[in-house]
Amino acid sequence: MRNANTILILGSMLVVLAATFASVMWPLYTMNDTPSDTWRPLTGLEAQGRLLYLRNGCTYCHSQYIRPQDWDIGSQRIAQRGDYYGESPHQLGSERTGPDLSQEGGEHTDDWQVAHFVNPRSTRPRSLMPRFAFEGEQNIQALIAYVQSLGGKRADDRVKVQRYWREKMIAAYKKGPDANVEWLHSQVPATWRAMPTESAMTKASIARGEKVYQDYCIGCHGPVGDGNGPAAPYLTPRPLNFTLLKRHLVEGKYIGGILYYQIMNGITGSAMPYFKKDLESAKIWDVGNFIEYSFINHRDDIYRKEGIPASFEGRDAGGYNPALGLKGAEK
Ligand code: HEC
Ligand code: HEC
Repeated sequence: MRNANTILILGSMLVVLAATFASVMWPLYTMNDTPSDTWRPLTGLEAQGRLLYLRNGCTYCHSQYIRPQDWDIGSQRIAQRGDYYGESPHQLGSERTGPDLSQEGGEHTDDWQVAHFVNPRSTRPRSLMPRFAFEGEQNIQALIAYVQSLGGKRADDRVKVQRYWREKMIAAYKKGPDANVEWLHSQVPATWRAMPTESAMTKASIARGEKVYQDYCIGCHGPVGDGNGPAAPYLTPRPLNFTLLKRHLVEGKYIGGILYYQIMNGITGSAMPYFKKDLESAKIWDVGNFIEYSFINHRDDIYRKEGIPASFEGRDAGGYNPALGLKGAEK
């Protein structure tokens, strides 16, 4: 009996050792550690931000890797070993309470990041991320430098694009509200500028649009659409006052397509994010309808009949099936 116990203990230890050797020791000494094509070293400020990332436990909510099966989260690059060259401890993380941050650099402008770190609810009304205002301005700048570096050289390219457009945007903004709107609209392709609203401006559509507005837009554009949400003081350019758009409408002119295009793609260079990952098509039309109806007092679909509200359940919902006739309902 005694002999059997010894064999069992020694045997299992041998199995564990063999597994450790194969999965830890062997790769450690045989895999060559080389940087990937997008890797670059962190600057001083970015490295400081990384330490703040560790200290605040950001990794408990955010991962920093994308697997091939993650394509549905809008993956931009499948993680490669060389992306994490020289990083210790790595911040891969395993929780995705918040979005993956491995390609965060250039996703948003710096001013969006400031407003978001000060109070995430200001840019994302339903966010559960804690505020980091207590870190103070300098540390927030370091955190921003770090998150803008995530994605390496590719992130640098995205950040460059953001800053290029930001300059143009600020130039347009400084020309005054009307010139700014003209400029913003001139950036929208002609087909979209001439496109009528796809979903009719019904009460149901406006009600659904209001909900979308409250969940995604109110923190910047404000409850009455004047651009005075809690995030606004941190943003340059500030969100515009929607009532301005009224002056840019000629009788019968459409604006639904413009709004759709801007909401779908965001306005690169400004804090206005793109919503194509968050909102499906119908919701973008709905929130556009809500803005037109509530803030501009304009009806894009003046030439169209009222559509059927999505809440309409159809006749068979009450037990009446047209195919079965009334007999179906009696059952
Ligand atoms: C309790 C979980 C939690 C913690 C802790 C947390 N976050 Fe977040 N974070 C979220 C959630 C949820 C979102 C998505 C909603 C939003 O934008 O706020 C988010 C969004 C973000 C975004 C924007 C991503 C994008 O492109 O939309 C960044 C950047 C970010 N977090 C960075 C950080 C950093 C840096 C820390 C640590 C200092 C941190 N987070 C800590 C939950 C968390
Ligand atoms: C983080 C802040 C922020 C959030 C959130 C945000 N916006 Fe914006 N939005 C802006 C800023 C800033 C501008 C102005 C850009 C400029 O003037 O250059 C803008 C501009 C716009 C415009 C352009 C108006 C025009 O006619 O040129 C539309 C439309 C718009 N936002 C709709 C929305 C909708 C709808 C949502 C929610 C789904 C939303 N925004 C969420 C910041 C935001």
